Amino acid sequence: MSDQKTPFFSHETLEKNIGWMIIASFTVVVFAGLVQIVPLFFQYSTTQAAPGVKPYEPLELVGRDIYIREGCVGCHSQQVRMLRAEVQRYGDYSIAGESVYDHPFLWGSKRTGPDLARIGGRYSDEWHRIHLRNPRDVVPESNMPNYPWLARRSVENMDVARRMEVLRVMGVPYSDEQISQAPEALVGKTEEDAVVAYLQSLGAGVREAMLQRQAEERAAQQKAN
Ligand code: HEC
Repeated sequence: MSDQKTPFFSHETLEKNIGWMIIASFTVVVFAGLVQIVPLFFQYSTTQAAPGVKPYEPLELVGRDIYIREGCVGCHSQQVRMLRAEVQRYGDYSIAGESVYDHPFLWGSKRTGPDLARIGGRYSDEWHRIHLRNPRDVVPESNMPNYPWLARRSVENMDVARRMEVLRVMGVPYSDEQISQAPEALVGKTEEDAVVAYLQSLGAGVREAMLQRQAEERAAQQKAN
C-alpha cells in the first residue's frame, strides 16, 4: 500500500492538505449558496406582489417609517410562520410576495409582543389610539411602552414625496401623480394617525383578496351544482 503512488488529486489529497481542504469547502459552500439564492431574484413568487398587496399609501408609508424609528420591530415580528399554532392564532402564514414593497422588510426575529402581520382590521382605529397612548388601558397586563408623543407630533413635514421617489427607484410602482399628490394626504395628520393607518394596512389586502377568492369559488361551486 505504502509504495503505491497516490494520484495527484484524490480524496486523500484533500483530507491531508489543509490548503486544498479550504479551497474545496469554500467552492462547495459558494456553489450551494448560489444555487439556493440566485433563483429567488427571478422567481415569480418572490418578486411579484401577492394578490391584494398594494404599495403603501402616503400616510401608511410615513407610519411605517415611524414604526421603524420607534423600534416597534424590536418587540414585534411581521411574519406568520407555517406552523399550525401560528396559523390558528394569527391567520394565514406569510408568503414572500407580501413583502415585495417593503424596503427594508420588517419580518423581525423577536416577539415580546404578538406578530403584527395580520393586525389590519382586527381592532378599531380608536382601540389602537388608546393602546398606543397607554397599552394598559386596554390590556392591563401589557408591558408595551407608552407612545403618547405620537398624537402630538405632525407628519406634515415628513418628506413623503422624496421617500416615494426613492422607493420607486427600488421598484415600487408609484406614479408621478401619486407622488405629487402625496403631501396633501398628510395635511393635518399626526404621527399617531400615520402609525394607526400603517397598522390597519398590515395583511388587509391579502385578507381581502382571499375572501374574494373564496366567494368566487363558492359561487362557481353553486353554479356547478
Ligand atoms: C418592549 C416591547 C414592545 C415594544 C417596543 C412595542 N410593543 Fe407592541 N406589544 C408588546 C406586547 C407585550 C404586547 C401584548 C400586550 C398588549 O396588547 O399590549 C403588544 C401589543 C401590541 C399590539 C396589539 C397586538 C394584538 O394582536 O393584540 C399592537 C398593534 C402593537 N403592540 C403595536 C406596537 C407599535 C406600533 C409599537 C411601536 C410604536 C410597539 N407595539 C412597540 C410589546 C411591545
